[in-house]
Amino acid sequence: MTLLNFPDGFIWGTASSAHQVEGGNWNNDWWLWEHIPGGVFAGGGADPSGDACDHLFRYPEDIALLADLGFNAYRFSIEWARIEPEEGLFSTQWLDHYRRMIATCRDHGLTPIVTFHHFTSPRWVHADGSWENPAVVDRFARYCERVVAHLGDVMGVVCTINEPNVVALYGYRLGMFPPGLESTAARAAATEHFIAAHRKAVDIVKAGPGNSPVGLALSMTDFQALEGGEERMARYRYKMEDVFLEACRGDDFIGVQTYTRDRIDPEGRVAPEDGVPLTLMGYEFWPQSLEATVRRAWEVTDQTPVVVTESGIGTDDDASRVDYVTQALQGVHRCLDDGIDVRGYCYWSNLDNFEWLFGYKPTFGLVAVERETQVRSAKPSAAWLGGIAKANALTV
Ligand code: BGC
Repeated sequence: MTLLNFPDGFIWGTASSAHQVEGGNWNNDWWLWEHIPGGVFAGGGADPSGDACDHLFRYPEDIALLADLGFNAYRFSIEWARIEPEEGLFSTQWLDHYRRMIATCRDHGLTPIVTFHHFTSPRWVHADGSWENPAVVDRFARYCERVVAHLGDVMGVVCTINEPNVVALYGYRLGMFPPGLESTAARAAATEHFIAAHRKAVDIVKAGPGNSPVGLALSMTDFQALEGGEERMARYRYKMEDVFLEACRGDDFIGVQTYTRDRIDPEGRVAPEDGVPLTLMGYEFWPQSLEATVRRAWEVTDQTPVVVTESGIGTDDDASRVDYVTQALQGVHRCLDDGIDVRGYCYWSNLDNFEWLFGYKPTFGLVAVERETQVRSAKPSAAWLGGIAKANALTV
């Protein structure tokens, strides 16, 4: 047996996002998307978000459970559509709600990791060009100013925007996420506006009360070029990752989130390799992606500190979750051994929750949620990972 110790102060958290867990989140573009008759979502046969995990009301027990299990941080997002339900109309009631959530984390010894934007935008933003419209940059900045003025003194760590690269690709180029565009130019515009919005949000956090470390959370993949696919892979990866990583150089941290690998040949993406098991998302079981992407983020950002803001697996076999996370953490440990400044690991996700286009089918949670009754039951992996967090060490 080997004991792999992690550095003092290492963040051990789990992650969620407002739309995926709160429930009744009807004022944003995703709710709209879920209910367009005959739309991409409706046609996919998945259940809409609905009451989700009722985390809106059950967060006290959910947060208490995370603390009991041994975690020291909780990453969640603030819903822009609640804070600013109509343009320029801000809700103190909802800002207070998130302040109570932060206080609950603090009361339980958890550092709140607060994300300002996790995939969803208010309906009024959606109705006016969403992230393709340059106006969104100042709109987002104004929302961040309100959030920071109200919560800046208590926030622990801030993620400005979650996976803007995924939203730009799926929402603006592939037509799968709202606003459902299929345009290279729209994707480029959304990318530019996300980056500008991130830069403004960083300045706002820095200028506001409190001194939370602030960074962006990026979706990354272990890109592997098959013979002859090198150029294509580099081009693809540039648009998907590098353009964002370069824009985040020198930030307090870069959030790395990864789930699998992507193999590219001269024609494009290739199908999963024979013999590699698939997860409920249809991804290759590839925990090695975490080490690969942490190393790459560190390199491309010129050694910006890394926080793993998401890593996890959608599976109905909890033992395979333990296997996946064990291998992923061993990779993180090798990065630490090589002097890479990794500051934390957040498992996606604490709860089985609304997995976007897939509805409630893929189960990523450490804690199962009974859909009809909302009853929670911790899976064995919850106590296992919480034990690692408590010990600040992984035994292999
Ligand atoms: C997102 C989460 C999502 C997870 C699993 C990430 O892309 O940030 O919202 O649930 O991956 O697919």
